[in-house]
Amino acid sequence: MTLLSVEGIRSGYGSLQVLSEVSLEVAEGEAVAILGPNGAGKSTLLRTISGLITPTAGAISFDGHDLLAMPAHRIPHAGLVQVPEARHIFPSLSVRENLLVGGTPLPTRAAREAALDDIWRIFPMLVTKRDAPAGTLSGGQQQMVAIGRALMSRPRLVMLDEPSLGLAPLVVRELYEVLRGLVQSGLTLLLVEQDVPVALSLVSRAYVVENGSIALSGTASELRESDHVRQAYLGI
Ligand SMILES: Nc1ncnc2c1ncn2[C@@H]1O[C@H](COP(=O)(O)OP(=O)(O)OP(=O)(O)O)[C@@H](O)[C@H]1O
Ligand SMILES: [Mg+2]
Repeated sequence: MTLLSVEGIRSGYGSLQVLSEVSLEVAEGEAVAILGPNGAGKSTLLRTISGLITPTAGAISFDGHDLLAMPAHRIPHAGLVQVPEARHIFPSLSVRENLLVGGTPLPTRAAREAALDDIWRIFPMLVTKRDAPAGTLSGGQQQMVAIGRALMSRPRLVMLDEPSLGLAPLVVRELYEVLRGLVQSGLTLLLVEQDVPVALSLVSRAYVVENGSIALSGTASELRESDHVRQAYLGI
């Protein structure tokens, strides 16, 4: 079943048009990547899907809802959450408090506590840091807090914007092991990633965005074999 459908989106900032005719689909349970160079419009695409930017053309539907008719603050309640590029954790709040912020869409305190228990199971490395101010954590741990906060509301689809940015290779590997486990347990993921080999090792399909349009798309193995991807993104 198609969970997210983006059709013919045109979007940008004021008079600057960034995206033109962008269409993509994500099926329930699928992990899909958006790849492409700096400035291509990947973050703009995620911001448009999560309602932070209103497109000037096109349609976006999620789980049967018309997202363009929904106020941005209601979108997480519909089950779609984004972890932004800059993470936006609250540095002076504890790890636990940061996670609880993500649980706001849940109806009861008991539901939030149960969700929190799940986050400690997903990210056991955060347990000993639960009462530490989030700003004192390492970059990798802060990224885990940002992802954990998004998972707190038990979303149907999570969008991650460059989770590996600024992290050491070993930390990226650890983070992606956790993401792999989440995908295997059924999480639907739309991932923007600059690290193409790492992204293609996780997802089943990907779209390549260049100059605000989808330049090509295919399964992870098709893209690994593509001459364009090999030359432009894999350095082969
Ligand atoms: N808030 C903004 N106001 C005006 N222009 C913006 C804004 N954010 C991004 N842009 C411009 O929109 C274009 C696409 O930017 P975007 O951030 O979507 O690229 P990206 O693919 O996410 O790149 P990166 O890999 O560097 O994160 C760029 O030309 C950028 O300068
Ligand atoms: Mg970006």
